[in-house]
Amino acid sequence: MAERARKRPCGSLTMAKRLQAQRLDGIDYSPRVEFVQLASEEADVVNLGQGFPDFSPPEFAVEAFQHAVSGDFMLNQYTKAFGYPPLTKILANFFGKLLGQEIDPLKNVLVTVGAYGALFTAFQALVDEGDEVIIIEPFFDCYEPMTLMAGGRPVFVSLKPSPTQKGEPDSSSNWQLDPTELASKFTSRTKAFILNTPNNPLGKVFSKEELELVASLCQQHDVVCISDEVYQWMVFDGFQHISIASLPGMWERTLTIGSAGKTFSVTGWKVGWVLGPDSLMKHLRTVHQNSIYHCATQGQAAVAQSFEREQLHFGRPSSYFVQLPQYIQRCRDHMIQSLQSMGFRPVIPQGSYFLITDISDFKNKMPDLPGAAGEPYDRRFVKWMIKNKGLVAVPVSIFFSLPHQKFFDHYIRFCFVKVKDSPGEGRAPQASSDLLGRGVGLICVGAG
Ligand SMILES: Cc1ncc(COP(=O)(O)O)c(C=O)c1O
Repeated sequence: MAERARKRPCGSLTMAKRLQAQRLDGIDYSPRVEFVQLASEEADVVNLGQGFPDFSPPEFAVEAFQHAVSGDFMLNQYTKAFGYPPLTKILANFFGKLLGQEIDPLKNVLVTVGAYGALFTAFQALVDEGDEVIIIEPFFDCYEPMTLMAGGRPVFVSLKPSPTQKGEPDSSSNWQLDPTELASKFTSRTKAFILNTPNNPLGKVFSKEELELVASLCQQHDVVCISDEVYQWMVFDGFQHISIASLPGMWERTLTIGSAGKTFSVTGWKVGWVLGPDSLMKHLRTVHQNSIYHCATQGQAAVAQSFEREQLHFGRPSSYFVQLPQYIQRCRDHMIQSLQSMGFRPVIPQGSYFLITDISDFKNKMPDLPGAAGEPYDRRFVKWMIKNKGLVAVPVSIFFSLPHQKFFDHYIRFCFVKVKDSPGEGRAPQASSDLLGRGVGLICVGAG
């Protein structure tokens, strides 16, 4: 029997019936997956594409995980379906203070498999056939397929850069929504608005005025706001992260999504959460109890303990939420300098792990890079850079809807948390020397 099983040809099941569910139509190809794959196929590349830090997490988080694994044996077992009670309790307490809300750990908190899980649960719970979902471009690329999988219709509105003074570097805060255009996107079919602040890939931190505009439109048109705030602690230059749920009248219609992966530099733990009013959360619980049901207990215990530690240090120099942004701001500045010295024109981000950089000069010098017919320039450029310079970035056009990609094909995204030491250790970030080495080659080719 085992012998026969081994000899059976693998792959290729064909059926008289349609095999894949219709909800997968048009979303099977993911450019991000393609670029991650491309990077992994090449030996000796510097991967500044993917969004995770390559420094160690804070010691207290690692110890909390070790403690969770080697301590109470019951942490090897299932816990409460909607979240390990000490975690839902500390999340309620911690974020209740920030949002100015009385948060009930049982009714207003759901623990998910990363922020990805939170987003998926939210889309499945709230978006229906024919519902319109407004997405700000550039957008974290899963928002569009998640809308489509739920049967919704994505409606895009772009942040656009305002002109800068000659010689002045561009900044993510120069990228703004046109208020009239934004208002025109709301219709009687609009169900949800997706906000991401600080934004991936641009690093824009939405201002209070911008959030107030979104809030008033959501209220006027009776729309739910799904607010992805996974980079909320990574904010620079004195900018402030504001949760839209903290604005008057917004808690009732907002789901606030967070990620322990980004918060404590532990992206592999995949612990995320959603906070919101019970009237919305009860539908997310329905999806959760009929899909994932339950997230890994030990990771939740470690995140609970890490938040408890942070609550004690909150606002003090010893707080990781104070140290992390200071440290990665230095990483950002290092990378900006390196990129500028190579002939790139980075757009200075005020938040997140990422920055985008203008490659128009390269486009002018090397317009005919190989690629498929109609393939946006930034994708051809990144493929060329991986193959010839061993440097991986992500083309920014993938963060735009198809019709708008041609307008934004001259930017690429770098992740700047690629260093070998950790926040709080007082050493200078080291990544850009390697980047610079690769970049010198870039300038030569670009100039030639
Ligand atoms: C904007 C944004 N939201 C959500 C996620 C997913 O976070 P997690 O790793 O916790 O699933 C990411 C990850 O890169 C992200 O950039």
